[in-house]
Amino acid sequence: MVQGIANWNTEETEEWLQQYVDDWVAFYRKHTNDGEVASYIPELQKANPDALGIVIKGNNGITIRSGDTEDPFTLQSISKAITFAVACMERGVSYMLQQVDVEPTGEAFNSIMHLEMKQVKKPLNPFNNAGAITVTSALPGDTSDDKLEPVLKLLEDMLGNRPELNADVFKSERDSSTRNRAIGYYLLEVGFLESDLDITLETYFKQCSIDVTIDDLARIGMILANDGMDPKNGEEIIPRQIARITKVLMLTCGMYDASGKFATYVGIPAKSGVSGGILAAVPPRVRDESMPFTDGCGIGVYGPALGEEGNSVAGIRLLRHIATQWDLSIF
Ligand code: DON
Repeated sequence: MVQGIANWNTEETEEWLQQYVDDWVAFYRKHTNDGEVASYIPELQKANPDALGIVIKGNNGITIRSGDTEDPFTLQSISKAITFAVACMERGVSYMLQQVDVEPTGEAFNSIMHLEMKQVKKPLNPFNNAGAITVTSALPGDTSDDKLEPVLKLLEDMLGNRPELNADVFKSERDSSTRNRAIGYYLLEVGFLESDLDITLETYFKQCSIDVTIDDLARIGMILANDGMDPKNGEEIIPRQIARITKVLMLTCGMYDASGKFATYVGIPAKSGVSGGILAAVPPRVRDESMPFTDGCGIGVYGPALGEEGNSVAGIRLLRHIATQWDLSIF
């Protein structure tokens, strides 16, 4: 990387960064062949397996957008980071940490093995399905729409517009939800749920079915990178402590059983979803003028072809490449 660029925030440098990212997206698009679009929710299978796109929003005002940036997709498990933050805002951090632990499982996102084998007193973290469904049950409200309201409100506060639910994905997930129902019944049996099981599951399927774009994810990532503050106007959207815990969980549990490898090779707090989205938050770091985005940035990636662990295969490789080239790791 070129030495001594004092100001990255110029048209010339932006164009230059854009060309790099365009080349990298074109290269990593071929890697989509190494993954497969999720099929256990039939509606998700309609996604274009070759799609790959990225949006990077820097705190310095630079935005880089490349590849398939317009395709909307559903939040899926990325919603777990949002609902955890919302539950902490609504119920308090210490209360929520009594309901759900903050330990990685090293297991698949929908595994419940650890719940029984370890006889845990609470789900191990809010980002596997058992923990996420428990968190959703703690959202205030008697109906799924009531419970979803503060989630949509937080998204609206961050994005400037209220995202829509994708009704087809919602129905498809609801109608193919045997695994999540099994998890839900187990949680009910051991007394972890605070709300009616059907209402909790309906809310969980709805939160997974919220439509977003990678512009949206990059914006959310930028706010998390700033410890919950909107860099545009200095407004606190998520309390600092909650934003920080959310990022810790993204780093330790956000990519499921690939979280350790992702932390090692990419080193950025991130959360994936089975529709192929990745939300990443790059906090500001020690200034090195030869690198762009030292003031921090949010990144949204979309690549629906998934690897074995349920994460975008080309998306992870693209992020790894960019993080290495631009020294984005927090470590
Ligand atoms: O619980 C499910 O099956 C999905 N709606 C969400 C799973 C998901 O996104 C896992 N991520 N990789």
